[in-house]
Amino acid sequence: MKKAIIIGATSGIGRALAEKLSREGYELGLTGRREALLKDIKESLPTASHICVMDVADTAAARQAFQGLLADMSDVELVILNAGVGSKNQHDWETEKQVIDVNVRGFVAASQVAVDHFKARGGGHLVGISSVAGLIGLGRAGAYSASKAFISTYMQALRQRSIRTGLNITVTDIKPGYVATEMTEGRKGLFWMCSVETAAEQIYQAIIKRKRHAYITRRWRLIGWLIKAMPEWLYLRLPA
Ligand SMILES: NC(=O)c1ccc[n+]([C@@H]2O[C@H](COP(=O)([O-])OP(=O)(O)OC[C@H]3O[C@@H](n4cnc5c(N)ncnc54)[C@H](OP(=O)(O)O)[C@@H]3O)[C@@H](O)[C@H]2O)c1
Repeated sequence: MKKAIIIGATSGIGRALAEKLSREGYELGLTGRREALLKDIKESLPTASHICVMDVADTAAARQAFQGLLADMSDVELVILNAGVGSKNQHDWETEKQVIDVNVRGFVAASQVAVDHFKARGGGHLVGISSVAGLIGLGRAGAYSASKAFISTYMQALRQRSIRTGLNITVTDIKPGYVATEMTEGRKGLFWMCSVETAAEQIYQAIIKRKRHAYITRRWRLIGWLIKAMPEWLYLRLPA
């Protein structure tokens, strides 16, 4: 049986991915801080799953818990690093620190465990959930957009290391635009918003095609192209 772990599976995109992968026959490892939600999901899935409560910002404990989960499941071929927090237009230190702790420190801590595991088994597939927001510094979400740029750059570095050193790890960078989840709830003016089900379906397609990059939904690629082509003087005149 195919086996996958989703770091951050209690709600939104992570939960929808758990449901999709389970329907596709995967045995799953599911993590998050909200234990009651993990138990609910485990009961609702058609395939076996293992749940593991962890706060990725507590990196030492999270790494130990993740290693334990990998050992319990044995031979996991796919790890999806989805856990992330936004900043809700707050710019204070506590908010930005939390974004960095979860999206940067937590991401690296978990990805190192996944890489060590894949090294030991001779390969694997690492998927990270970045964002279109990582393509440019957003005035309303500085730490968030920078954290997502970090994730994409870090995954690109890992991809190069894997190719150059024969690690045999496929690295997929997922860049969602807007997806209807707790993170986007109540926010005004969002466009091209998709459901979690659509996001999970397109992420699954990117996984099975072993893509290096995927925009979710696909038309966000156009925004990605526009962002990369836009001169900074023009960007700085746009509303934040
Ligand atoms: N929604 C969008 O429009 C959008 C767009 C671009 C990128 N993304 C990215 O997609 C990912 C999923 O977000 P979502 O929209 O599905 O939001 P969500 O429903 O809030 O899901 C966030 C997930 O991350 C987990 N998480 C957060 N902090 C954590 C921590 N300290 N330790 C462990 N797990 C933690 C949450 O689990 P617990 O709360 O149970 O810990 C939850 O499962 C994030 O990386 C986000 O940045 C979302």
